[in-house]
Amino acid sequence: MMRIFMFTVALAFAGNALSADLARGEEINKSCAICHGQYGQGTPGQLSPRIAGMPQEYLVKAIKEYRDQDHRNYPLMVRTSKLHEMSEEDINNVAAYLASLNLSADARFNVEAIGGNVENGEEIFQDECRFCHSRDGYGNPRKEAPPLAGQHPAYLYTTIRGFRDKVRRHANDEEDETFDEYEDQDLIDLSAYIATLDDAKVSEGYTFQPPEFAPPVKAVASAESAARSSSIEITDIKQTVVQMALEDGVSIEDAAQAMLSKAVELNLKLVGQQNVSQELEARGEKTPHLSIYQFCNPMDAKVMVMANPVFSSYMPCRISMVEDPNGKIWLMMLNLDMLINSDLLPAEVTETAVRVNQQMLAVMVAGSAGDF
Ligand code: HEC
Ligand code: HEC
Repeated sequence: MMRIFMFTVALAFAGNALSADLARGEEINKSCAICHGQYGQGTPGQLSPRIAGMPQEYLVKAIKEYRDQDHRNYPLMVRTSKLHEMSEEDINNVAAYLASLNLSADARFNVEAIGGNVENGEEIFQDECRFCHSRDGYGNPRKEAPPLAGQHPAYLYTTIRGFRDKVRRHANDEEDETFDEYEDQDLIDLSAYIATLDDAKVSEGYTFQPPEFAPPVKAVASAESAARSSSIEITDIKQTVVQMALEDGVSIEDAAQAMLSKAVELNLKLVGQQNVSQELEARGEKTPHLSIYQFCNPMDAKVMVMANPVFSSYMPCRISMVEDPNGKIWLMMLNLDMLINSDLLPAEVTETAVRVNQQMLAVMVAGSAGDF
């Protein structure tokens, strides 16, 4: 009798997280990790906010806002992770998984401080923000206010500026005036102060251990990947390979054209193109399609190589277009997630790696859709 009672209480408290499939959430998170990091830790810069440890409800809401372009807009994320095709259940699963990752005590994930007047930031925060985001900056579920502590300051700064300039709605209130009066410098000061708030939770010597789940049943996994064949797939060789099939009706020429025009738009230089199968055919050797496109931005290459010459082995960034035995055409590239997840790299390098990675993903997504 007692045991049944306790079980019911646990159920009532655990709420959505219990009904969510965390192992499934972890699996889905692989497609988020290529931008947000393996544990959703995010990186310095505005292209990879931290999503680990945020409340599940907030995550679900944010994901849907991007999906529906409801005042939040980042189409590359929607396309890369196929958020527009994801079931409500899976959105809930990945949100529950991410919400369960608590990184705050691990010093490796402590966010970097930025320049700014921390005292001024503190004064504004404790006067104007504490009421909802709480004194310690870890948010208040009753006010639906997410934690700000632990978030990367460059993302916070851009976000708050977006609130002030009415690009994004703040506090679920269309008429919100919280930021109307602030100068850019106040926003920098606020971000600088908030960046100090996660220091309080660091516990020296503590190392975050990711949760472990039973591996998913094989048969289910393969049936599912067949069904979602045009979505992104992650293959672990030694390196993560990201691959995406051409969407129905997109020809090889369309895909090539789309990738090249996207690269021009992003200021990525095409530094090499090999039409391997075409060359073989010219020699009378009939082979499935294979072409390789190489891109480079010399300034980014410089930042990376100066940090560590080893990174030159990633260069130039490549996307290959390859026909599989069933005649299906795929785009493939090496993912730079290893650099994103490494905590040994200076912020500038991680930021560059994240940006280059997302640019290459954008080229690939454009190719897959044949948009130009
Ligand atoms: C192509 C890179 C990319 C991928 C893949 C990606 N994201 Fe994002 N995500 C971003 C960027 C960049 C932002 C910030 C955009 C902005 O400034 O509005 C973001 C924002 C978010 C936010 C809002 C964070 C906040 O604090 O409000 C959530 C939640 C989120 N992503 C969840 C996910 C999940 C879950 C996945 C995988 C299913 C995913 N993302 C895949 C790049 C990505
Ligand atoms: C009336 C309550 C309230 C007050 C006061 C308030 N906030 Fe918020 N804030 C919220 C809510 C609710 C959200 C979540 C809204 C959403 O889902 O987009 C939010 C979201 C945010 C976000 C987005 C977090 C993310 O991960 O993208 C930032 C940044 C933020 N607030 C900063 C501040 C700052 C700085 C102040 C003080 C100057 C402040 N807020 C004052 C309620 C409040």
